[in-house]
Amino acid sequence: MSPLHKIIKNKDTDIKAMWVMRQAGRYLPEFRQIRKKNPNFIKLCLNEKLSSEITLQPIRRFALDAAIIFSDILMLPYGLNQKVEFKKNFGPILKKLQLNEAQKISEANFVNKINPVYKAISYVSKNNLIQNKNVIGFIGAPWTLLVYMINLQSPKKGLKKNFFEDNDLIKNILQIIDKFLKIHLKNQIENGADVIQIFDSWAGLLEEKNYYSYIYNPTISLVDFVKSFKVPVICFPRGIKNYQKFCEIVKPDAINIDYNVDPLTISKTIKIPVQGGLDPKFLLTDKQTLKKEATKYLDIFKDHPYIFNLGHGILPKTKPEMLEHLVKIVKNY
Ligand code: CP3
Repeated sequence: MSPLHKIIKNKDTDIKAMWVMRQAGRYLPEFRQIRKKNPNFIKLCLNEKLSSEITLQPIRRFALDAAIIFSDILMLPYGLNQKVEFKKNFGPILKKLQLNEAQKISEANFVNKINPVYKAISYVSKNNLIQNKNVIGFIGAPWTLLVYMINLQSPKKGLKKNFFEDNDLIKNILQIIDKFLKIHLKNQIENGADVIQIFDSWAGLLEEKNYYSYIYNPTISLVDFVKSFKVPVICFPRGIKNYQKFCEIVKPDAINIDYNVDPLTISKTIKIPVQGGLDPKFLLTDKQTLKKEATKYLDIFKDHPYIFNLGHGILPKTKPEMLEHLVKIVKNY
């Protein structure tokens, strides 16, 4: 059994496994080289040869226990014919969703449009480098996708004033999201994804009174769906006010924590396997500080099923040798 599966399925506390959110990406010179020649990010995600190569790049360099497929949560709106573009130094920009059109899209249409993502998963899972390691498939959580699909850009400066205005629109979009996320999950799993992570990057934007409608209920639907394939599902409701309550209600197989929550409280109050936590900024400091901060998490979760990871994606400015050092710290602990 792979290290991640031992930790999540068997609640093993003797081994420490590790992977890093956004490990396939911009801090790697070999990625930047490919990226320079491929200015269209979506097209790059839909090039199964290149996207599987990018997925494997961090695995070639570092002793990581899982590969996360090089794709994006916004492949879902893209598959629904919502225009998605990635502007340099700005982030994603979407055009308004044509709801009537999206409601008519068939499963076959959708799968066909993003089929290279599934082919890449299949290639990667058959690669020798992946022996005894996992291939992580992923989706954006319904709330985070709703945010992008209505806000049409990152809500870094807050949601648009009229975001919640059209209740019917929200209801209809959430229904479409649920349907196509399940199709997306099924195809990822059938092509070799053997762990699923659900990214709710904007959970922190909501008030607690809205958690049931936008976070708990829509996420439960997907967590239960993944569980029906006997594939472990990790949730990352970044910035949520109460991780313990989320775990009790949504019941994922493992929970990824962000760097703003106190790991000691988490270790005492959460019974399920935990992943992540370390602030990615510590990879921009020095080796001594990195060791001190990483060891804090390793000490706290010594007797807890724990997968080492960060509290958000690795930053583009990270030097690869600092990640190399972090892997050593974890493996030699
Ligand atoms: O290595 C990996 O983790 C695999 C691939 C991956 C990407 N995006 C590739 C990517 C994953 C798992 C994601 C998830 C994702 N995408 C999330 C959830 C995680 C999080 O960071 O909160 C979100 C919110 C998105 C949406 C998105 N995609 C944004 C906001 C941006 C622009 C800003 C940024 O973070 O780079 C992207 C673009 C993107 N997705 C890039 C990569 C490698 C950068 C593309 C480039 O080279 O310009």
